[in-house]
Amino acid sequence: HRVMAGKDLLHFSDIDGEDLRNLVHLAGLLKEAQKSHFTHTLLAGKTLGMIFDKSSTRTRVSFEVGMLQLGGHALFLPGSQLQTGRGEPISDTAQVMSRYVDGVMIRTYRQADVEEFADCATVPVINGLTDEFHPCQLLADALTILEHKGRLEGITVAYVGDGNNLANSWLQIAPKLGMNIRVATPAGYGPLQAVVEEAKFHAVQSGTEVLVTTDPERAVANADVIYTDTWVSMGDEAEAEERLQRFAGYQVNAALCGLAKPDYVFMHCLPAHRGEEVAADIIDGSHSIIFDQAENRLHAQKAVLAATMADAGAFGEDL
Ligand code: CP
Ligand code: NVA
Repeated sequence: HRVMAGKDLLHFSDIDGEDLRNLVHLAGLLKEAQKSHFTHTLLAGKTLGMIFDKSSTRTRVSFEVGMLQLGGHALFLPGSQLQTGRGEPISDTAQVMSRYVDGVMIRTYRQADVEEFADCATVPVINGLTDEFHPCQLLADALTILEHKGRLEGITVAYVGDGNNLANSWLQIAPKLGMNIRVATPAGYGPLQAVVEEAKFHAVQSGTEVLVTTDPERAVANADVIYTDTWVSMGDEAEAEERLQRFAGYQVNAALCGLAKPDYVFMHCLPAHRGEEVAADIIDGSHSIIFDQAENRLHAQKAVLAATMADAGAFGEDL
């Protein structure tokens, strides 16, 4: 489980399917251990710095609690209160932080900023969400689907809505885990073209399906998982009104879900907006697994932290 020791988690381009499966597996083991009140202090005495330039409930709480459960400590560092907020260069900040902490998690706007930080840091850097990607969420989602469906291979995920960070990360991870991914967005709101090309390349290798379309019905037809996310991500607030109009035909509601497999599950990374991207009867209905998904952020984040930050020898024979 130390295959990522000392490495960063910035996106999934540089991680292969085996390492991704290992991370999901480790998350499941850490979850089982926690449920039986067994503590793995894999990060005893270690510290994680958490820089937040955007709001967060799940990411902040799961990383902070996760560090505590692993025997370490987390520092909440709102970007506005760091000197970066007053213009200190990212490169200096990364080198200074590396002298204090054992890892850094960053939630910010530009993916390029997280990558610059990682280039200049000498400790692992974890992407806690950028405008482009949200890898930590997807690891939790994979664990959740595995628990509910018993497998990942051959599972078809229909992502409906905005071609945002979640859509990009879905395209990156699905082919590597043997899953089919279909993304339906309005024209002009699709995922990053380079990410679509990358997904198609990996899909050929794994024999999976990648479909990017403007037709939500085509995406959802016979799907195992229906996934959506907000139409107005953090940073998109100025476009809110226009977006609500453009996305009107993309709501996940009973009519759309009726096209999926009868035992489909509904997922949403949260926070959700009932009556916008999803109808209340779907997100609060019997197919919804949103709170299992949210819980699994904790277990998945612990896996990422342990895999990147634990010392050699920290993992016993049971892990
Ligand atoms: N899903 C997710 O990342 O939630 P937060 O914005 O609350 O961290
Ligand atoms: N796409 C959303 C996800 C929030 C967890 C955003 O970036 O705001």
